[in-house]
Order: sequence, then structure tokens, then C-alpha cells
Amino acid sequence: MAAWATTTLALYGAGGAALATSLFKLRRRLELSQAKHRSLAGHSRMARRLATLVPFYEYDEAHFFCADAAPADVAQCRRAGFERLSALYKTRFAETIRRTAEAADIISDLQFTGAYRVPFQFSRYTRKHLPSGAFMQSTEGVTITDLDGNRFYDLTGSYGVNVLGYDFYKDAIERGAARVRALGPVLGPYHPVVLENVKLLKEISGLDEISFHMSGTEAVMQAVRLARYHTRRSHLVRFCGAYHGWWGDVQPGIGNPVPAHETYTLKDMSADTLRVLRTRRDIACVLVNPLQALHPNASAPSDSALLDSGRRAHFDKDAYTAWLKKLRAVCTERNIVLIFDEVFVGFRVARGGAQEYFGVRADLVTYGKTLGGGLPIGVVCGRHELMKRFRDDRPADICFARGSFNSHPYVMGAMNEFLLHLQSPAGHAIYQDLDSTWNLRADRLNAQLRAEDLPVEVANLSSIWTVCYTRPSRYNWMLQYYLRAEGLALSWVGTGRLIFSLNYTEADFEAAAERFIAAAKAMQRDGWWWRHPELTDKSIKRAILKETIARRLFA
Ligand SMILES: Cc1ncc(COP(=O)(O)O)c(C=O)c1O
Repeated sequence: MAAWATTTLALYGAGGAALATSLFKLRRRLELSQAKHRSLAGHSRMARRLATLVPFYEYDEAHFFCADAAPADVAQCRRAGFERLSALYKTRFAETIRRTAEAADIISDLQFTGAYRVPFQFSRYTRKHLPSGAFMQSTEGVTITDLDGNRFYDLTGSYGVNVLGYDFYKDAIERGAARVRALGPVLGPYHPVVLENVKLLKEISGLDEISFHMSGTEAVMQAVRLARYHTRRSHLVRFCGAYHGWWGDVQPGIGNPVPAHETYTLKDMSADTLRVLRTRRDIACVLVNPLQALHPNASAPSDSALLDSGRRAHFDKDAYTAWLKKLRAVCTERNIVLIFDEVFVGFRVARGGAQEYFGVRADLVTYGKTLGGGLPIGVVCGRHELMKRFRDDRPADICFARGSFNSHPYVMGAMNEFLLHLQSPAGHAIYQDLDSTWNLRADRLNAQLRAEDLPVEVANLSSIWTVCYTRPSRYNWMLQYYLRAEGLALSWVGTGRLIFSLNYTEADFEAAAERFIAAAKAMQRDGWWWRHPELTDKSIKRAILKETIARRLFA
């Protein structure tokens, strides 16, 4: 009897323990779900699955100009404007377009960026009639010149690399190359300039050690690998919408054919996320791209996703600083490695990057882009104990990271020129009143846009800008073509990201702003922002959903 009772008790005990474990796991799972942003960007797996279901369809000429059910006279006005632009592109950019067409079948990247400049329903027709040139011949000051001799104000910022102005980098590359020429492209042994660079980077980052890589993507890979190695935990946390390069683990959603099983994509600026960080034991690191402060939880804005006027952006420095401080505290409390990915914002918002700008210190920081002085680069700076790639007591347990071109002498030479410039009085002067300069410029442009009753406004994080639209429309992406016609060069993501180099003078900026307004006025005149009480962002979304379903079911 006693044995039976003991067995029963043991069974109850085991059952109770199993139930408690299941409930505990369920609770953690629920907390994780709560910490996901409700958008598709917050649900990577679902986004990937849905992406495979979206069928291709496009508007023929009859629908292209009235996809929003605009009346015939408005459609005709749009068509006339479009044809005028098309004629202008074909004559003004003739040689640039001819060379681009010649390269298009051979350069895969060109096919991709060409196809994704605008929403896919409009893409082929637009490509045919408003082809975008991919070649340029020269730069000077803040301008860039195409093969036909057209000078554009550069708003591409070369993906953010161009912080100090192209002329600076041309000189940096030349001077840097001259310094290392005697050694040449020797890899493995270091040129002495490396020693100067690491000392300067140590001082700027406030961190102990440095490793060099070939791109921002690689630097992020290495930072995350180090965090996993030292914490012996599996998962990285990234925030919804944040870009960290094209490595699979940091790109768990659309764009990566393989699921990223050891990545949590969580809500930015959310207490739910802090709860997950506080309770889960498998989190190695939190990856922060401070550029997200401009549009928390949203992906990098691109005109190909500009289906309506739902794009929103607003930078609240105080709120984001408070968030980073909370993150810092929870990471410290839980021994989670806090990584700032400053590949984009580093050296652009402050000399000491986002750490200085927001007054929060990270455990590891990645830099890239402009730091190479115009040449390709990725850098990890970190605390000594996190940067170590082997264990003294376990000689076979290492964290491998090498790369043929790491510390390339020519890159190190150009980097040195960049870092020395930052040390100089001129380098320090760059960051003086930087934010107020760019905030005032954005405010001024917005005031002018409002005064002209144009449904466009800009939002900015210092010199990084994005264009938002204030009236529901399916055609906002057309603005990029009007801007080009006015002599403003944009990257392939269009009006989603305008990047100014810091050598824009007031006169340069005024000239660019005038062109911006002229472009928006022309677009308004051509009827693309036709308004109607029934045309709302919601009705646009509904119409697109209907078209997609119809295509899927009946085509
Ligand atoms: C924040 C951030 N991290 C990483 C990368 C990737 O850098 P790269 O293009 O040099 O690989 C980028 C590129 O835009 C970036 O903005």
C-alpha cells in the first residue's frame, strides 16, 4: 500500500512538474508573441510565405494612368505629363540610357534595382518610357555628372558612404595610396598605418580592440558570432524593420530564401521586448541600427513599397535615447551583448557616432561605409573580453574570423586620411551645430512645401532624410522621375532615402530645395495627386488586395 501511494505521489509530482514546465514555456512563448510587431515586417516567416503567394500583374496603358479610378480628363493630364517626361529623358539622358540598356542583360544587380524602383504593377511600363541611367562620369562638390554631361545635385550619398563630399574621398584615396605604395597590396603583414588607425578607432569608439573586415555585412556577422561565442547562447535579437546587411541571420524575412531559426525579430521601443530580454535565457545579443530612430519598426523606406501614402517617419531623439538607456540597462542585467550597428550612422551624426550622439555605450560597435575613406570596409570595435577569438583553457574552442582582404594596405591608407581629418580642427568643425543646421533646412523646406499646398513633407535624422506624402495617392513614386528631370540624383530606393553629404553649403541646399519644389509642383500640375473623398489609403489598400486576389484566383 505504502509503495502504491509513493508511486502515485511520484506520478502526481512528475505530472505537476511537467505541467508547470509546459505552462512556463507557454508563458515565454506568449511573451515572445507579444513582443512581435503586428506588421508583416514583425513576422518574418509569415512574410516570406505570403511573398511566395503574391502573383505578378501589371497595368496596361489604359489603366496605368487611372489605377485610382481618376476620371478621363485627369488620366489624360497625367498621360501628357508622362509623355513629356519620357521625351525629355530620351533626349537629355540619351547616351547614359543607351549604355545602361547595353549593360542591363549582363549586370544582375542592374536588373534587380531596375525592376524594384517603383511598385511592380507600374514597373515595366515605367522602365520602358522613363528608363533610369546607371552610369555617371564625374563628381564635383555636391554634384554628379552623367554621360550626357547633365549635372545633378547628389542626394544618393553613395548609400551613406559620402559624408564629407566626394572631393575629400578622391584626395583621401590618392594620398592614402601614396603612403602605402612602397609596400603595395601585400596581405597578411600589416602596413604601419594600421597601428595608427587602431589607436584612433580605440579613442573614438571608447572600446578596447578593433578588427577589420571587408564590408559592413561582414562586420555585423563577426560581431554577432563573437557575442554567441562568449555568451554560449544561440539567439540574436534584431528590431523590426532594421537593416544590418544581407547576411541571412539578420535578414530573416523577405529576401532570404532560408529561414533564420536563431533570430528573434522584436518590437523597437517596446516594454514587451524588454520583458523578453529580461526572461529568456537564449539571447546572446541585441543588434541596434540607430537609423531606425527615424522610422521605428518600419523597413528602410523604398519607393517600390510606396503603394499609398502610408509612409510615416519622425525622429524623436529624447524618446529614442530613453529607449536605448533601457536597453542598455537590461542587457547589462542579463549579460546580453549590446551591439550598435553604426555602419550607416557612424561618423555621420557625431564624431563618436551613435554612442556619443545618444549618450549610451555599447559592448560592440560596427562601423563601415565612410570609415574606409572611400574604399570598402567593415570594422568591429569591442570590449577586450568580447573580441577574443580563443579560450586560454580550451585551445580547440575558437571563434574563427579571417578574410583575405582584411586590413588591405590601400584601404588602411585611405582610412587613415579619413581619421586624421576627423582629428583636425576642420574635422571637429563638421559636427558643430550639425543637427540644428539640418533640422532648420528640413523645417524650411517643409514650410515651403506647405505654402505651395504640395502634399509632400520630409522627415529627417540629421542629414538622412525621407520623403512622406500627406494626401492619399497611388502615384507618389512618380516624384522620383520629376526630381531627376529637375537635376536631383536619387539612389534606386527613390524618395524613401535622401542622403546629404555634410559639405552642402546653404547655397547648395537652397538650389537643391528649389529643384525639389519645382519637381513637386510639376507633378501636382500633371494631376498625379488628384484628390477625391473616396480615395483614402484604406481604399487604395483594399483595391490592391482585390486586384491581387482576382489575379490569384482567375488568371
Ligand atoms: C546599418 C547597416 N549595417 C550593415 C550594412 C551593410 O554594409 P555593407 O553594404 O557594407 O555590407 C548596412 C548597409 O547599408 C547598414 O546600413
